[in-house]
This record gives sequence, structure tokens and C-alpha cells, in this order.
Amino acid sequence: MKHTIYPLFVLLLIFSAGCNVKDSNARVIKQDFNIKAANLLLPIQDEAPEIKVTVEYPDSMSQSPYFIRLAQDTIDYWVKLDVDKYKNKTISLNFEGIEKNSFALKNIKQSDKFDFTFNEMYRPTFHFSPEYGWMNDPNGMVYFDEEYHLFYQYNPFGAVWGNMHWGHAVSTDLVSWTYLPIAIGPDSLGSIFSGSAVIDKNNTAGFGENALVAIYTSAGKVQAQSIAYSTDKGRTFTKYESNPVIPNDGIPDFRDPKVFWHNETNQWVMSLATKQTITFYGSPNLKEWTKLSEFGEGIGNHAGVWECPDLFPLKYEGKTKWVLLVSINPGGPNGGSATQYFIGNFDGTNFHPDNLPYPLWMDYGRDNYAGVTWSNIPESDGRRLFIGWMSNWDYANQVPSKYFRSANTVPRELKLANNGSHLILTSYPVREIEKLRKTDLKSVDQFTVKEEYTIEQLIESNVGSYEIEFTLSPNAAKTVGFTLANDKNENLTFKFDKKLKQITLDRRNSGLTTFKDNFASEIIAPLVDRKEFKIRLLIDKASAELFVNEGETVMSTIFFPTEVMNKIKFTSEGGEIQISNLKSYNLN
Ligand code: FRU
Repeated sequence: MKHTIYPLFVLLLIFSAGCNVKDSNARVIKQDFNIKAANLLLPIQDEAPEIKVTVEYPDSMSQSPYFIRLAQDTIDYWVKLDVDKYKNKTISLNFEGIEKNSFALKNIKQSDKFDFTFNEMYRPTFHFSPEYGWMNDPNGMVYFDEEYHLFYQYNPFGAVWGNMHWGHAVSTDLVSWTYLPIAIGPDSLGSIFSGSAVIDKNNTAGFGENALVAIYTSAGKVQAQSIAYSTDKGRTFTKYESNPVIPNDGIPDFRDPKVFWHNETNQWVMSLATKQTITFYGSPNLKEWTKLSEFGEGIGNHAGVWECPDLFPLKYEGKTKWVLLVSINPGGPNGGSATQYFIGNFDGTNFHPDNLPYPLWMDYGRDNYAGVTWSNIPESDGRRLFIGWMSNWDYANQVPSKYFRSANTVPRELKLANNGSHLILTSYPVREIEKLRKTDLKSVDQFTVKEEYTIEQLIESNVGSYEIEFTLSPNAAKTVGFTLANDKNENLTFKFDKKLKQITLDRRNSGLTTFKDNFASEIIAPLVDRKEFKIRLLIDKASAELFVNEGETVMSTIFFPTEVMNKIKFTSEGGEIQISNLKSYNLN
């Protein structure tokens, strides 16, 4: 991952911060800054209450206030306000609910540098994570001109949720990502919630041939759908002057538009999460939208709010089926957030689900949420590519990283398969991930496990980003398992129980677990009984993604070991098991 962090020891160039503190009324404190450096650095304390901050630039007032957890007595870290273009001018910050002589105001400073420890302990190596600040849902994923764009829900003013912008990164190989400046920021309609992006090849919107058009939720007093376009490969966006394109007359949860071009009916189709249903809209030009239909009542899981839908076709045995992803929070099979899916047909107006045992979950782990797929993947490639947010609203704001919070799953390819009784959606790491395999240090053809078998050292110089694959033949055993562990006895345990027909992932003793009471848990997935289980496990510092039989069962989990887990212990109960083709690799 490319990033532009300078070593910590580079001293901050600090200028004296403010001058001229005014008390414009009892509650708003206005502080002027004569700008001498590129950044205004604001001190943050994650536990502090949010302070409403409105910025007045020499040429304008910022249209929407930010809510920032300004430090009250301890500085957890700094965030920056980029003021480079106002050098030698004065900008004012208006603070609501803070004292004139407060700790925060005294500590605001100016600096040309913005430094922090990028490689903190739980920073992943090969998963995308924001450079600093908070990230949740992936947004606007689109392939254009040999670049995979990844936008994301982003708070640049803290490592907790709030002040939603669209952050932006690009990749040419889905593996290494380059950070780009923030793409879309809050305005008078509100902050920028989740959405999608398309390439308008035929200039239906009139923004230009091949304009990259982002369709997102403006989250202000109400949630409404807006658009913005870019004609420079996503580097800068212009908001459409007649936003919102779909106003809202009072539905509380009305968000996350995902748009695609439907050739057969010659229109753009939008899937929108509307409380606990998905409403489909159609449009000739991305600006005017008509309601087509509504799906979801009485089917699937309804224990929470429906969010982040995605409707797309997939071929199965030569025939086209349609898959509808719907994230739901809470209500996941193991608590909190999870993504369910429906398989059926789409006729340009209605989605008709097949008769399947819903709810179906795309990932039984607790940490794959709000994922959607890339648009505009070339036909010559033909894959349906997906990425999810690797966290859970149950504890995402509390996980023990510091300057950033959350990473994404690895990009995955989605396919349809039959699990022996019905069609399912499988997800499997894109083949590009294999390019990261550095060494194949442990390669064992075959061994038998009678009760227990431990490999003490999986990988020499294991820094915590690695992959293990093997084939497990349970034979007559009732329970088989494997445990990753370190010398501190922290472990992550997977158990396949043929009698209970379930896979259990236990992270209760996996390291730091007490930052939130609902984090440490046993996580359960149904076991699809097979003669052999082909296991692939991707570990990246603080995450483990388990793929069984090429994505037939998937469990993604985050965990926070205090030392790398470089041992693997296999166990069997009720018979001998065979492990074959075991390989482990460093990935970086
Ligand atoms: C899902 C979600 C979306 C919303 C976004 C806000 O995680 O709640 O529905 O657009 O996050 O950040």
C-alpha cells in the first residue's frame, strides 16, 4: 500500500496558532487563525463529546458544520484541516458548546506536516484501510480506464463514525491501493452517505461522454439521493445543481443507492434501501427517477434496518440469474451487522425471488458488512467483484487501533454454486491476491491427526500477514478442528462438528477482547457436509478470512492478538483425520 507518511521523528513545524478570540454570543466561540502553514491541527480525544465546528473561509462559510471530538484533557491524536490555499489569509472557526479558555482551543496549532504512526500494530498489510481516520462502507466502486476506484464512508476528523465524506483510493490490480484526496464532502443537503458510481458511456445525463457519475445519499434533516460527476477520472467531482434527484417526504431510512444500466429495458435501475424493503427506481438520465417496484416484505430477515442493496446478474450453467444483496443491522446470524442475499429474476421492473430457504447469508463471520460489487468491469474480464467493510456496528467504534479504524475484506469474486440442495452465492478471494505469496516455507504433503497434531512454526519470520491452505479429510471423525495460536496462549479456533452440522469460530481468547462486551463470542456457520474440506485462511494482523470449498462457506472475523499466531494445532474427535497439501505463505 502506498502512503505518504514521514517518520515520526520529523519535528512538526509549529506556528503560534490563534489570535483574536471573540465571544460572539454566549454559546459560540469564534477563533481567527492567520494561516501560515498547510494544516490546522486539531487535538482529538475519542471519549470527548462532539463539538460543532463551522469554518469560515475568507471567501465563504463552510456549508455544513463538522462534529469533532475536541480534546478536553488528553490528546489521543491530531486531525488536520487542510488550509494550504489560505496561506497569509485569515480563517475563522466557530465552536459551539466549548469554553473560551478550554484545553482544545489552547492546543490548536498550525503545521506543514501531519505525522502519525502508519504501521501501528493492527494496521493490515494487504487489506485496504484508510490512511488515518474512520472508514465504514465501501462506496462508488467502479472500474474505469484501467483503474479500480474504491470510495468509502470516511471521517477525516476522527477515528470514530461521523462527518461522512467519500474517501477515495485507486488500484490497478485490486491489491495495492493509492490514496487520493477526499472525493465528495458534506454540503447544505447534509453529509455524504453510501452510494455507487457508474460510467455514463452514452452521456445520458449530459455531463459528458464517459462521465463518472456518483449517486449517493445526502444525509441531512432527511435522507435524499443526490448525484455528482467527474470528467477527470474521479479526481474532482461537481455536484449536480438540482440535487437531490430523489427527494424524501419523510421515510426515516431512505438510502444507499446502487445503480446499473439495464440494457434490456434501456434504463438506469437503482436499488434503494427503504426501511425494511428495497425500492427499485428507473431513469433514462440519472436525474429523473420513477419508482418501479418494492421488494422484501415478508421475506428474508427483518430484525434490523435494511441497508446497502446491490442487484446484479450472474450466470449459472449458462442461464442468467439475479442476485440481490441486502445488508441488515442488527439481525445478523451471529449478532449485529451481516449481509443476506436473495436469488431470483429481474424483469426490468420487479425482482422475483426463487423459492429458497431465506435468510441466506453471504458470510457467517461477524465482520463483513455493507459490501457491494464493482460496476463497469470489462466483459473480457467478466467477473463480479465484491468488497465488504470488515467490521460490525456492534463494536466498530471501539476496536483497539488508534489513528485509523477499520479495513475492508479482500476483494472477492462472487459466483453461484449448488450446495447439494439449492443455489447459493459463493465468494472467494480474487486471483490477484496470489501474487502476494512471498515464500512457501511450510509445504507438507500429507499427515494424519490422531487426536492432536501441532505445527510449532508455520512461517519463519511471520509478521502477521499470511495465508494457510490445506485439504482436510474428516473420514469418520465427528469433530475436527484447527487452532491458530501464539506463545501467550491466545488463539483463534475453528471447529467442524459433523453431528451438530456447524462450523464454530471461537475468538473469545484471541487477544484483546474486552474493549466492548459483545465482541468476544463464538460464531457459528452451518456446515455443508462434504468428504473433503478445502480450507483457505487469510490472516492480516487483525483479521482472518476463512474460505471453505472455494467460498461455499465464508467466515470473516477481526481479532486483536498481542503477538503473531504462528502455530497451528489440528484436533480430531471420534476418528483419525487426514490433512493434505498444506501450504503456508507470507503475504505482503
Ligand atoms: C451502513 C450505513 C449506510 C449508510 C452509512 C453511513 O453501514 O449505515 O446505510 O449510508 O452506513 O455511514
